[in-house]
Amino acid sequence: MTQTPRADIGVIGGSGFYSFLDGVERVPVETPFGEPSDDVAIGELDGRRVAFIARHGQGHRFPPHRVNYRANLWALRSVGVRQVLAPCAVGSLRPEHGPGTVVVPDQVIDRTWGREHTVYDAVGPVVHVAFADPYCSRGRTAVLGAASSEASAAAVDGGVLVVINGPRFSSRAESRWHQAAGGTVVGMTGMPEASIARELAMCLTSICLVTDHDAGVEVGGHVTHEEVLRVFGENVERLKVLLRKAIAALPDAEPDETATCSCRRALDGLDLPID
Ligand code: ADE
Repeated sequence: MTQTPRADIGVIGGSGFYSFLDGVERVPVETPFGEPSDDVAIGELDGRRVAFIARHGQGHRFPPHRVNYRANLWALRSVGVRQVLAPCAVGSLRPEHGPGTVVVPDQVIDRTWGREHTVYDAVGPVVHVAFADPYCSRGRTAVLGAASSEASAAAVDGGVLVVINGPRFSSRAESRWHQAAGGTVVGMTGMPEASIARELAMCLTSICLVTDHDAGVEVGGHVTHEEVLRVFGENVERLKVLLRKAIAALPDAEPDETATCSCRRALDGLDLPID
């Protein structure tokens, strides 16, 4: 009998991202929430076991509001993943952060609606996880350390990611409003990805690549999908180098009791059937 391969680290990103894994096996995973965006691709990178899911599926099939975030996180968790790196494309709400800038946010504002946003949806234990600090402190440190050792990938430490529902971009007034609310960058996929990871006591670190200035920024015209794809494509190799270094810098697999970040204790005291 063959055994399902396992991994401790997960990456949710664009479909090109797993080209750097060795010995990749594609594993179809069933979840209580339906199918994930794609099979989980599991392989090795510099001695670490890494599982990858293409967020938008093969051929970029799923727009941001149709991504099955619950199934993606559940699938990663079920192959052993406890730490997730989540690169995504964003627009900048600040003139000083131009295209190509990498932002590692420490806060999020959720403006999405109509998405399945919790795994605790059935009648059963009522679960309210803490989300004051949405991202993993240790994951952020690993990514920022990796970025500072890589001159071409220097990253902005902290910022507020505003997540809109899309698939359309923001109007100028909405964009100015997001700025006034303290937003640093704006994207469409960051939520409920981050809160579902927390509901599963997984560490998640968002890595935002700026592809454009959003419409309300003085220097911004209006965003186009072509521009987003072009700038993302121009920077994808840099992002891969950053991911590779960040993966190497993440803490080794460890039991929840010894982990020093609060994400891993999100379900402390609850008796839930997720292990
Ligand atoms: N993704 C990339 N650029 C974006 C923008 N300006 N708004 C929302 N999502 C984006």
